[in-house]
Amino acid sequence: MRDTQPVWLDENSGCWHVFRYADVNTLITDSTLFSSERRQRPFARPGTRTSPTGEKRERRTGRSIIAMDPPQHRQYRNLVSSAFTPRALSRLSHRITAITQELLDQARPAGQIDFVTDIAYPLPTMVIAEMLGVPTSDRPLFKQWADGLLNRQLSDAEFFRPDETAAHNPEMERLQTLFEEMSDYFEAKLEERRLQPRDDMMSALLAAEVDGEHLSIDDVISFCILLLLAGHVTTTNLLSQSIRCLDEHPDARAQLSQQPELIPGAIEEVLRYASPVWRLARTTTADVTMAGVTIPKDSFVFGWLASANRDERQFSEPARFDITRTPNRHIAFGHGIHFCIGAPLSRQEASIALPMIIQQLPDLQISHKEPLQLFQGRNLFGFQHLPVT
Ligand code: HEM
Repeated sequence: MRDTQPVWLDENSGCWHVFRYADVNTLITDSTLFSSERRQRPFARPGTRTSPTGEKRERRTGRSIIAMDPPQHRQYRNLVSSAFTPRALSRLSHRITAITQELLDQARPAGQIDFVTDIAYPLPTMVIAEMLGVPTSDRPLFKQWADGLLNRQLSDAEFFRPDETAAHNPEMERLQTLFEEMSDYFEAKLEERRLQPRDDMMSALLAAEVDGEHLSIDDVISFCILLLLAGHVTTTNLLSQSIRCLDEHPDARAQLSQQPELIPGAIEEVLRYASPVWRLARTTTADVTMAGVTIPKDSFVFGWLASANRDERQFSEPARFDITRTPNRHIAFGHGIHFCIGAPLSRQEASIALPMIIQQLPDLQISHKEPLQLFQGRNLFGFQHLPVT
């Protein structure tokens, strides 16, 4: 596609797709021409909903930074950015080490382990849960929500361009129910913080102000949901893709066990080579011409990070997994104002966990007895399960 149709209209969904590095970069960086705001979740649009007790209530319409444009975006992003500074994260490193060790100790005696279920999923989930202030023992709930929301069975057209029939689509109703369940969960936890603030992100968000006003409860809930979901599934994919890449490239793995200082470069190469987030979405605010093709105003456009990160116009030998690649200007965490706020956290998690895994499970190998089960989400690239021996 990069060579023949770098800007492609999917006639079925009416959505556009952009594949080259330079174009994807423009798409995700130029917020004047490509808005993030209009991608509001369809199940968080105004309307009524039925509560678990059967009452009719207004649907929650909390906003999320990932779906905001300037200037509002900066104000809201600043509210949480301090949690991800190097100083704040260095305080977390002991905790990340301890959790990884705990998970490795539990997993090792078992013989065959499922790398996703036993390590790659629980590690980032426990870290973000502790940062937010929700009990790590609620992990099964988070998994149910993440799997349910991210593995949606709706076409791009149904999800991103829903018409009036969408509200009655059973899959949309299922997504709405999950979203409401998560919202109710956070509402209860936030109420506890309102009565008794603690040293966690939920309490910080409740206390935060924009233009002298506290955020609405729906906005705080929306923030918590974004941080919980974005904070774990993506890093799960990074960790499991790292194991897959090293399994397929035993030389790189041998090199890493001898030279742990190469770990950060290896993580960047996994991010490029097997980008955990496949694609990002924007909406055009005017007619825009890219690679000679004009995309009309108000079009829904996907930028394929996974393709951009393999673009031969940007990377030499892009299909080669090279842990010493320099420079490596991948855009797996996006670029510009929406650049992933959790990038330093997931880099830190991976750079602590990977050497421990390589050292403590030196013979770890992916079991190919069964075909590997990919994560079914449309935007993410990882595994549902990864059996290793
Ligand atoms: C934004 C990828 C981990 C929270 C993004 C974006 C990408 C991304 C591509 C840009 C979205 C856009 O431009 O529309 C990843 C990958 C991760 C990861 C590949 C792991 C390997 C995390 C973690 C957290 C997090 C650990 C939180 C703890 C966020 C948030 C945003 C974001 C809140 C929105 C930022 C904004 O709109 O200003 N992420 N992410 N991510 N990510 Fe991550």
